[in-house]
Amino acid sequence: MLHRKPQGKYHVQVCTNISCLLVGGEELYHHASKKLGIGHKQTTADGIFSLEEVECMGACSWAPAVEINYDFHHHVTAEKLDVLLDSLKKPQ
Ligand code: FES
Repeated sequence: MLHRKPQGKYHVQVCTNISCLLVGGEELYHHASKKLGIGHKQTTADGIFSLEEVECMGACSWAPAVEINYDFHHHVTAEKLDVLLDSLKKPQ
């Protein structure tokens, strides 16, 4: 949970451990990576998002699970993740 480089304003963690893996967690991670244009432990050029592929976050019953700034999002689909990331990118 320690990071040696600055993270994005929104740190997106996608679980690819077994429960999440079985219901699309890995595909979800790759979708997030493609959408954001960054890989594991990288940050977007504008500093808004960073991405991390993570081990089990203890949310297996609600897989696939994503955390953004340590807020849980359950049963996440690619479409739900798109909506979530797009909403965070809007000026607030
Ligand atoms: S395996 Fe993903 S939260 Fe447990």
